[in-house]
Amino acid sequence: MTTEIDRPQAAGEMRSTEEIIGRADVNDLEAILSFVGHQEESGRHPVHDNCDAEFTWDYDKGRLEKLDKLYEKAKNAQWNATTDLPWETPVDQEAQVMANFATNPTQMGWDEKVLAGTALAKWDDKQWLRFGVESQNWTLSQFMHGEQGALLCTAKIVETVPWIDAKYYAATQVVDEARHVEVFSRYLDEKLSGHYPMNAHLGMLLDDIIADSRWDMTYLGMQIMVEGLALAAFGFMHQISEEPLLKKMLRYVMADEARHVAFGVLSLQELYHELSSSELRERQEFAFEAAVRMRDRLRSQEVWDRMDVPWKDIVTINERQDPANDDFQILLFSKIVPNLRKLGLLDAADGWLRQKFTEMGVIAFENLEDSTEDADAFADGSPVARSVA
Ligand SMILES: [Fe+2]
Ligand SMILES: [Fe+2]
Repeated sequence: MTTEIDRPQAAGEMRSTEEIIGRADVNDLEAILSFVGHQEESGRHPVHDNCDAEFTWDYDKGRLEKLDKLYEKAKNAQWNATTDLPWETPVDQEAQVMANFATNPTQMGWDEKVLAGTALAKWDDKQWLRFGVESQNWTLSQFMHGEQGALLCTAKIVETVPWIDAKYYAATQVVDEARHVEVFSRYLDEKLSGHYPMNAHLGMLLDDIIADSRWDMTYLGMQIMVEGLALAAFGFMHQISEEPLLKKMLRYVMADEARHVAFGVLSLQELYHELSSSELRERQEFAFEAAVRMRDRLRSQEVWDRMDVPWKDIVTINERQDPANDDFQILLFSKIVPNLRKLGLLDAADGWLRQKFTEMGVIAFENLEDSTEDADAFADGSPVARSVA
């Protein structure tokens, strides 16, 4: 197994928070909100890829036993987005939004006191309904763009990873991700009421992952961080959604994602045992950058922008809010933290990442099960055959 990797940072060079994420204060909400995603008019977004593609002459299938097993499972777990989902299901988006409001009448835990003096205090029922609709359009759009990021990254892994068992497995994931882009795009077009461009923070992260010259960073950024958060977000939405088509779609996508995250952990585990402390610190910094970008992306900047709500109002609301209401954002790290522990990244380099995650309030998740124990990852047969619910 090769551990040859390029090192763009001088060995032992430690970067400050500002150098890693572009601002000194991780929690500077105004700075976070002021980055709004925009789509190029050309409809194209090129990213320079600095990684070499690599052939291997070692065709010995099954040398990496667990990856081989995952590949065999993946071949049987395929489903067809066109024929396996009930696309004929009628979806009344406004009725769905109203139903969600009925179970959560205080709008994300915000009461009158929290909203007083802000633009939101003057909103009538129609504007809250529009906010609910826009938020759903935004959320599903971000899923769709993130899935395209996964499609590109997995294709890159096929090219760059040096082991044949990983190339084989990653090839199945390319098909999975194409299917995921397809279902979110179709749901947006046929069942919802509008698209959003990619969130600016998610976009910065995906560009960084694709541009990095070290092939293991594609794994760390996409398979562990982006997909780990996606798996938790899909699970959350699956739990609260009553709409049967969306529910089924998310459940099928989750069955695939469980395998993807397990692929990341299994592939990096052995590699990271062989890295030096300064090399591991670079991986920690990358994981930290990804964690912050993904937390920042959950602020739905593009929705506020479209609804003409000033940033200062959102900052005011945030300052008045009970931090316990941030549970949703924190929960999204439930898959990422145990997987980083399994990779040894929490405690490497004097526990730098453990310290950062403690400051972000997400360290308590380290004791949850990691993704190599997810029942979906090594399940027999497709989610259709298993009729997962
Ligand atoms: Fe996916
Ligand atoms: Fe995935």
